Amino acid sequence: MYACGFYARATGAAFKAKGHKPLGCDSKASGVPEENSMTTHSSQDKESLGHVHPSQSSKAHKGSKALKPKPQHALEREALVGEQSIELLKALHILTREGQLNQDSRRKLKQVNHLVQLLEGPLRDLARVHKTGAQQPLTLVDHGAGKSYLGFVLYDRFGAHRALEPSSPTEDTADERSAAMALRVIAVESRAELVARSAQLAQDFGFTGMAFLNARSEDAGALQEMPQRVDVVTALHACDTLSDDAIEFALSKSAQLMFLVPCCQAETASALKANRALLLNKNPLAELWRHPLHTRELGSQLTNVMRCLYLEAMGYTVTVTELVGWEHSMKNELIVAKFSGQRKQQAAQRLKELLAQFGLEGLLSKRFARIENGGDRG
Ligand SMILES: C[S@@+](CC[C@H](N)C(=O)[O-])C[C@H]1O[C@@H](n2cnc3c(N)ncnc32)[C@H](O)[C@@H]1O
Repeated sequence: MYACGFYARATGAAFKAKGHKPLGCDSKASGVPEENSMTTHSSQDKESLGHVHPSQSSKAHKGSKALKPKPQHALEREALVGEQSIELLKALHILTREGQLNQDSRRKLKQVNHLVQLLEGPLRDLARVHKTGAQQPLTLVDHGAGKSYLGFVLYDRFGAHRALEPSSPTEDTADERSAAMALRVIAVESRAELVARSAQLAQDFGFTGMAFLNARSEDAGALQEMPQRVDVVTALHACDTLSDDAIEFALSKSAQLMFLVPCCQAETASALKANRALLLNKNPLAELWRHPLHTRELGSQLTNVMRCLYLEAMGYTVTVTELVGWEHSMKNELIVAKFSGQRKQQAAQRLKELLAQFGLEGLLSKRFARIENGGDRG
């Protein structure tokens, strides 16, 4: 089975030795034992907290830079943004009860904060164009929301509670008021216990503009609770075909903006594998996926390339970038798609050619059907 822990296994000792653990899919789902993943970065955790393991003495690290532990408060300053609610971060277990960060949660927080920063400009642009207001808020749907870190951090930063008029405004509170926008965040998650927990948390914090739906993303578009208009679709560390389901959802809702961080991908790799023997005889390109490890890597890469072409064919401008540096997570490709209305015929053509070259024609009707019906989004 292809799983999200792939990088931990594939990159082996060197990656492990640095104390990295892939973010995203939980270790149970990925097949990487939780115990293992903890061991993987435990020494780095201690370093961050100001402890140096005996094996990291200057002798053990001869020739390398001396480790300079950063004080805890410095780490927190680095990771926290603006007026982030410490209580919310504690409730999300990003901060410990004592208000501290460990290496893992710091990395997670950095990623989510970075994503929120990247989202802010486009969200404000959309709010301006659509003249959103309390009656018609900007609607963002987050697929495979998990514990809804993204939704909570986003809502904490821009939600309506930021606009509450304080009795004597200071410069800071005025800034906070200007951060507010009429925003509705809907989280879609297939695990009922995560949905229940998040719903409770939103209630506790008075985040009335958040909703949590226990559903599979492929079914989410048809849910009664789902509004007709969805402006923004996000899917962070979306496993396997979840990014495709999020794309399909976004197209069906004519979303203006997508932020996708795909995770592991199995579907393309197994299709590649199925046709491998046949293609090896006639196409030297098939060497690219002769070895199982390459099949998985190529499968992921190819999937994201095809997703981008599909989005361009559907009238989106696509940017592919890193969410944060590779040192934070290997599953880190951020695909941003903004609707421009300019459908690129050439992208549709290229996508079909790629499918043919790689023996993946079966995916056309399954994943990219809309290019066949004239690029109809809704
Ligand atoms: C790797 S986690 C990412 C969670 C969150 N987006 C984050 O980055 O912290 C993927 C989440 O997607 C959920 N999930 C997987 N397949 C799904 C589907 N088809 N529909 C809805 N949720 C799904 C899983 O239960 C899991 O919580």
